[in-house]
Amino acid sequence: MKETIIGKDPQTAAALLEAGDLVAIPTETVYGLAADAGNETAIRKVFAAKGRPAHHPLIVHTESIGVISRYVTGIPNTAKRLLEHFAPGPLTVLLQPNGRLSRLVSGGRPQVAFRVPAHPLALGVLRSAGFPLVAPSANPFTRTSPTHPMHVLRYFNRVIPYILDGGPCTVGIESTVVGFEDDTVVIYRAGAITAEEVALVAGGAVRVKESSGSGPAPGMHHLHYTPRTPLVLAEDFTGMEGAHPDKTGLLCFSGYRAGWPRENQFVLSMKGNLETAARNLYQGLHELDERGLSLIVAETAPPHGLGIAINDRLRRAAGHSFQLQQQILNP
Ligand code: TXA
Ligand code: MG
Repeated sequence: MKETIIGKDPQTAAALLEAGDLVAIPTETVYGLAADAGNETAIRKVFAAKGRPAHHPLIVHTESIGVISRYVTGIPNTAKRLLEHFAPGPLTVLLQPNGRLSRLVSGGRPQVAFRVPAHPLALGVLRSAGFPLVAPSANPFTRTSPTHPMHVLRYFNRVIPYILDGGPCTVGIESTVVGFEDDTVVIYRAGAITAEEVALVAGGAVRVKESSGSGPAPGMHHLHYTPRTPLVLAEDFTGMEGAHPDKTGLLCFSGYRAGWPRENQFVLSMKGNLETAARNLYQGLHELDERGLSLIVAETAPPHGLGIAINDRLRRAAGHSFQLQQQILNP
């Protein structure tokens, strides 16, 4: 395939999508690898391009709540309340499909995930196209999510024809995925909207699903978001005296660590602000991963509010390095 074009025209993106091509689109959370949700050939291309197993379900993106309602048997009251409050925005709801969407979308799962993205260019594409889009994060299976067009280009140059350039993502961490069981809201994936915010608007019980095992969110397995460089977590940076400063990058939550080369550090937020840290998280992982280091040590965020989602991503990104962590930090 030809060099991937990076452009700013939602109509070009919509025309390619209509022709069954894949297009990377900006959202407020991360870039998505979009395809026509009504075109099975295009949906298969998404799974193939990502190297994603077919049973990992995709989120259907629409321009409005009204469009969602055309594809489901109904929207429960709590879901309606959450959507009316958070859409467009980083909330994904699991609903009962009415059969108008291909089963490929949900990987054979009983429910389908929907969200209305808040990025003006994403909404522009959806309106121009006039059909919903499936859009998983635009990264190969298990790799770090993209929050900048250049991240997408590195992954998919010559694989997709077009990247719609909406600049860096403002939220920087994926949507919160919620399902509904009777009067309870179940959070299947921690994300940009915190459990507290969900509870406040839902006005009822909120349960956080344990993300291990084989629950309804199979994309939540332990190996995810990983850089190529081994990554370990540290609550703070004590106990890593054995690590080599020239070969070890630090992903710092709030401020530089003294005595460590600054060029091997990336600070998520100088003021320790959780929103800023979420916005910079994947950029930091991408940058440190490009430096040819032998190890990245990431400082975890305070475990409340958005810190829950940040730490969730860091833990999964470190998934394959747990044993290494034991060796390095507890010799
Ligand atoms: O912020 C986001 O949600 C981004 C942007 C591009 O919109 N998209 C995204 O998609 O993160 P993806 O495919 O990387 O992650 C979607 C996750 C799945 O891993 C799974 O946990 C959950 O959403 N999900 C999707 N459909 C589901 C379904 N039918 N049942 C249960 N969980 C589902
Ligand atoms: Mg993803």
